Amino acid sequence: MNNLYKKPVSRDETLIGRGSGEDQIIFATETSCDETAAAVVLNGRKVLSNVVASQIDIHRKYGGVIPEIAARQHLETINVVIEEAREKAGIEMREVTAFAGTVGPGLVGALLVGLNAAKTLSLFYDKPFIGVNHLNAHVCANYLESGFEPPFICLLVSGGHTQLIRVNSYTGQELLGETLDDAVGEAYDKVARLLDLPYPGGPFLDKLAREGNKEKFSFPEARVEDFDFSFSGLKTAVLRTCKQYSAEELPKADIAASFQEVVSETLLKKTLKAAKHGNINKIALAGGVAANSEIRRKFFLQEENGFAVQAPQFKFCTDNAAMIASAAYFGSNIMSELDIEVFSRVK
Ligand code: KG4
Ligand code: ZN
Repeated sequence: MNNLYKKPVSRDETLIGRGSGEDQIIFATETSCDETAAAVVLNGRKVLSNVVASQIDIHRKYGGVIPEIAARQHLETINVVIEEAREKAGIEMREVTAFAGTVGPGLVGALLVGLNAAKTLSLFYDKPFIGVNHLNAHVCANYLESGFEPPFICLLVSGGHTQLIRVNSYTGQELLGETLDDAVGEAYDKVARLLDLPYPGGPFLDKLAREGNKEKFSFPEARVEDFDFSFSGLKTAVLRTCKQYSAEELPKADIAASFQEVVSETLLKKTLKAAKHGNINKIALAGGVAANSEIRRKFFLQEENGFAVQAPQFKFCTDNAAMIASAAYFGSNIMSELDIEVFSRVK
């Protein structure tokens, strides 16, 4: 099995003296997409502050994130967000053990803002800098305000990625499978657009689905080998169904519920398959779509079947900087050189 992320990695667990018994305070920034975020986390788990300034209202009128606007907005907001995170945590910057920022994947112009802020703080206060992979960080959101520990199987479902990961240890994550086309969040947002819901559609579709009949339509489940996924066929099937109705007669709630049913079933089935295959009885969710009520319900039902089930609190599912701090602390795929550069995609 291959290593999860093929970017240069220098894992230096002693960088911040983890395990030394001394308290470690990580100050992190995150600006990979459309949230300007900063957070302070103690020893990888205790969140002292978590500030997120969302740009969603700005991008909503365009129906998606406009990269240039996102970058400019981050620039305008980052200093205020950083100061608020420091103040809410009740700390002075000189008390910080290390500064961390997201390196990628994400929008390059947006990433640069948060990453350079973290690098500058590290230079100014003469403390280590830790670059973090956004995807590893989503997984590490499971450690925030919890005692959850590896090994476990993690289903990472976000706006840009869908991955099944075997988390062997704090520093060792193995990619088992991923989507061959659309990410789950992307599929939610596209289907939501067909149903004329606001952007980003995931949470709106989730809510609408609760009023619908999930058995009204039987949308196809993609047959993909092993631990990979595919959602583009499902999206097309929903589109075809929508076209059979006039705008007034479109059974939106039933379509939402039927779509959500097949997505959540597929995700659970593959996760349980990976758990069985790896002989692991601990499963976790991560990423923005982990906030989905039906996916969470189906996963937590597995506790009745002897599984330990974990999902981040809602505010730690979508993009935030507390998860970046946690990944920095636990040394999960970190890059600590000050000259590392942002990257947009996992190669
Ligand atoms: O992880 P995230 O905040 O950003 C990325 O790194 O992509 O995920 C954002 C995605 C969006 O596609 C959004 O529609 C989806 O998460 N999302 C949801 C829910 N809340 C957020 N999808 C389904 N149900 C939800 N409750
Ligand atoms: Zn994310």
